[in-house]
Amino acid sequence: MTKILDVIGCHPFKPEDKRSMLIRKDSFVDFIFPPDNPYTSDLSRLIVGTDTLLVGTYQLAPGGSFDPPDIHPGDEAYYILNGTVTQQNSVSGQFIQAKQGESIWMPREAWHKAYNFTDEIVRILFFIAPKPWDDQIPPPDFPVGEDMKMYKGKNNDKFDNVSPLADLTRQGTTDDIGQWPIPGPEGRKPPHPFYVITEEKKLLNVHGWKNPMLIKFFVSNDILHMGEFILPTGGTGPRTSDPDSHAGDCVLFVVDGPVTVNLPDTQEIYIVEEEDAMFIPKGVRYQLINFTNHVVKAIFSIAPGL
Ligand SMILES: [Fe+2]
Repeated sequence: MTKILDVIGCHPFKPEDKRSMLIRKDSFVDFIFPPDNPYTSDLSRLIVGTDTLLVGTYQLAPGGSFDPPDIHPGDEAYYILNGTVTQQNSVSGQFIQAKQGESIWMPREAWHKAYNFTDEIVRILFFIAPKPWDDQIPPPDFPVGEDMKMYKGKNNDKFDNVSPLADLTRQGTTDDIGQWPIPGPEGRKPPHPFYVITEEKKLLNVHGWKNPMLIKFFVSNDILHMGEFILPTGGTGPRTSDPDSHAGDCVLFVVDGPVTVNLPDTQEIYIVEEEDAMFIPKGVRYQLINFTNHVVKAIFSIAPGL
């Protein structure tokens, strides 16, 4: 039996033992949030938890909502794997929805609570950096029940009034890498606005001019970067992205695969099947290879530096 608080910073290795590793789904660590109350829980699976980041999936049953609300000392980004999630900021009273293929960014210190108002299972890939929780899960002092700001909330008047939030309407460029959908320091100020990154609002770019691979950033700021690597099929050999490495640690989660990962400096090859993950420590060069007959896609979570 593995207790989540005992492993969140050291799965599948301690920070001092970090190395490139294929993490298959059968080695994810299962837990519920909150750990002490299954009646209001979601089903979570920890993929990687180390000193720079935490990546996992969680699942909300139809009609379900996790309670109490959660909060982190780091930023959190979601990628919706299945279904439609409704997300509440319990203090600002902001509600947003994101559906399969879309993303949500929540700045650190933002109280959040997820609902599933549909008859489908909601599944989310979540990414928190640098630190998910202090020493208590759930965190203490959460706004509970009637204390949350919401429609005809009994205590709405005790919360600050929120000025109308700016909508994200601008078109992105390469210079927006590092400040998408909003510069981190600006977005972390009260009222801690959430952003939904729909398909149209992803920040597009291309890696490599000889061997182009499409990149769609959901979030890119001073703490974390999350998005999609989309590698087409076809060429004179298997389609292969140019080598890349990062100033932070990287977790790849494959949604359309398998994706073959090559570490050119050590000639290590990993076949990453769908819903499996690959950990690549900072500074390690890697490239993606598509040996299939279809477009392959991996969700990347990188922290802190790209
Ligand atoms: Fe969270």
